Amino acid sequence: MTLSLVLASCNGKREAEPTCTENPVVKTIMERRSIRKYQDRPVDRAQMDTIIRCGLNAPNGMNRQDWAVRVVDNPEYLNGITSLFLEKMGERGARMAQEDGWRNMFRNAPTVVFIAAPEGGDLNIGLLGENMILAAWSMGIGSCCLGGPIAFMRSEAAAPYVERLKLPEGYRLVYAIGMGYADESPEAKPRDLSKAFYVE
Ligand SMILES: Cc1cc2nc3c(=O)[nH]c(=O)nc-3n(C[C@H](O)[C@H](O)[C@H](O)COP(=O)(O)O)c2cc1C
Repeated sequence: MTLSLVLASCNGKREAEPTCTENPVVKTIMERRSIRKYQDRPVDRAQMDTIIRCGLNAPNGMNRQDWAVRVVDNPEYLNGITSLFLEKMGERGARMAQEDGWRNMFRNAPTVVFIAAPEGGDLNIGLLGENMILAAWSMGIGSCCLGGPIAFMRSEAAAPYVERLKLPEGYRLVYAIGMGYADESPEAKPRDLSKAFYVE
């Protein structure tokens, strides 16, 4: 049976519409959207501390916690690496920088969380990141998971910036999460419910 119109409810009965929407966790998950326009101020560090703790509280294989999280809200860092990125991108970079609301290569986020792991640790850091994204949203902080900037960050040109992250030996950057106070309210993107079904 597909989930197209049939979702499990809190009490195990199947309903035509999603239920439990008053549940704060369900509400946060269903209402979260990726944000790419932010107010011009970094995430408050006391709030960020809570978000980080939520990330570090994620399930992870054998509780090895083989992850590294680095939070950057220093405009000198974010603008500096963006300038280098735009330089390397040439004409494409120049066009990007003219986009409406362009601030930086991290989809304009004033706070960026860099996430690294050793080879094979990507599942753990996926769970860590989603904990952070959902905790942030529940606290009124928008975010966008970012794979795009990582290719540049792994390049020679970005090495001085990556060194500043002081990653443990053998760890490599896998993705980043841009965070900040949202300055847009995008519509939900459709989800294909036929991707999941019960096997009887
Ligand atoms: C692994 C991963 C990498 C992503 N990389 C980018 C990115 O580089 N730039 C971007 O704008 N969005 C990026 N996104 C955000 C997705 O585009 C977004 O989650 C998706 O379109 C669904 O929209 P929603 O998050 O608003 O539900 C990424 C998401 C994931 C999970």
